[in-house]
Amino acid sequence: VSTPLTTIELDSLLGEILMTPEGKADPYPRYAALREHSPAFRSSLGLVFVGRYDDCQWVLRDPRFGKSAVDAIWERYHLSEQEWLERFPGFDGRRRSMLGMNPPDHTRIRKLVAKAFTPKTVGNLRPDIVRLTNEVLDGFDGVVDVIAELALALPIRVIGEMLGVPGSTCDELQPLVRSAVATLELEPPLEQLDAAADAARGIAAHFEELIAQRRTNPTDDLLSQLIHVEEHGDQLSYDELIATVILLFGAGFETTTNLIGNGLLAMLDHPDQFERLRDDRSLLPSAVDEMLRWDSPVQLDSRTALEDIDVLGVAVEAGENVITMLGSANRDPRKFTDPDAFDVTREGGAPMSFGAGIHYCLGAPLARAEGQVVFDRLLERFSAIEPAWGDERPPHRDSLVLHGLESLPVRLTRA
Ligand code: HEM
Repeated sequence: VSTPLTTIELDSLLGEILMTPEGKADPYPRYAALREHSPAFRSSLGLVFVGRYDDCQWVLRDPRFGKSAVDAIWERYHLSEQEWLERFPGFDGRRRSMLGMNPPDHTRIRKLVAKAFTPKTVGNLRPDIVRLTNEVLDGFDGVVDVIAELALALPIRVIGEMLGVPGSTCDELQPLVRSAVATLELEPPLEQLDAAADAARGIAAHFEELIAQRRTNPTDDLLSQLIHVEEHGDQLSYDELIATVILLFGAGFETTTNLIGNGLLAMLDHPDQFERLRDDRSLLPSAVDEMLRWDSPVQLDSRTALEDIDVLGVAVEAGENVITMLGSANRDPRKFTDPDAFDVTREGGAPMSFGAGIHYCLGAPLARAEGQVVFDRLLERFSAIEPAWGDERPPHRDSLVLHGLESLPVRLTRA
């Protein structure tokens, strides 16, 4: 049943989802109102949104949509090109990663790294993920902030292990990566971009040094393999090598953090489901997919129209962005039966949380493996896992695209 909303109501729902603590904590009833209102709509600020599962799939897959040229990004900030380049030297597109590319460049670069992230390769990595998770959990007893101590600490160690970045360097990079991912947001304020650009330079400097070391002393890690490709042929330039390594490091970091944090919160909110998983660990794959669906670590994705196109009744001009609300698609009753029930045995379709089409998350098998190992180890090593917050629910971080908690205090009792 379609519920017509006025533009003011549309804007106010969007404002709540994007800007208010209540909306960030529980955007789902608001998404439902928007999703049932119409398949696509334009807010008064001009942004176009879609929120139904099949429609998000379509936008992310149709080749008439793509990644925008960063060429005119300064216009969005009312700066001239020169002012922009002075403020963000190096931000001229040379170091764009595959995430911001269209074919054929995207195809070329993605192919080079795809082999490292197949379910089979990731399967071989599982013992390492178990070891790293155990190392983190060894120190846990009593009340622990799971975000700081586990969800932020582990994913960077795992990708560090794959790339061959030493643990101590991972720890140094963690706060930098956290500021750098601000560029994933829709339109971050300039001050945030300044901090992100500084952080990106710091990360690049670390990797430039590490690459120089690996050139002289190659090992068998992913970084050495990529350096080999860069040195032997015309498949990967030096700038693309740096951009790829930074992307791999950044893309799997706060996203997987949010899978662990949001997933654990969902479990604590549904103790019967947590017990069910404790009793039957064969449910781990469906449970982790349900955590991804229930409270998606990435709420919004977007594409730029590469030509004028009718988006489900909304006229969109070439160059305009269309935002796909992944968190909304995950609760679309057209796709998921009883979508507002949290069910660790759920079958019937993958969540939209990893996007779709040619940019579908390269790290999805790795993220799923990390999620499964973390919840398996938590249940194995602790006989009780309970909320350790008072009347106030744990706060959400203030971001639009990435969706996760600032902290999550939990009381752990050793098994
Ligand atoms: C739960 C954790 C994760 C979530 C929710 C997630 C989500 C996403 C989404 C939504 C996209 C698509 C972006 C777009 O359409 O433009 C994406 C792309 C990507 N993700 Fe993930 N991600 C996660 C973990 C990881 C991990 C662990 C890695 C690996 C290190 C990774 C690497 C990438 C890369 C390289 C891309 C770009 C692919 C391309 O442009 O072709 N992600 N991810």
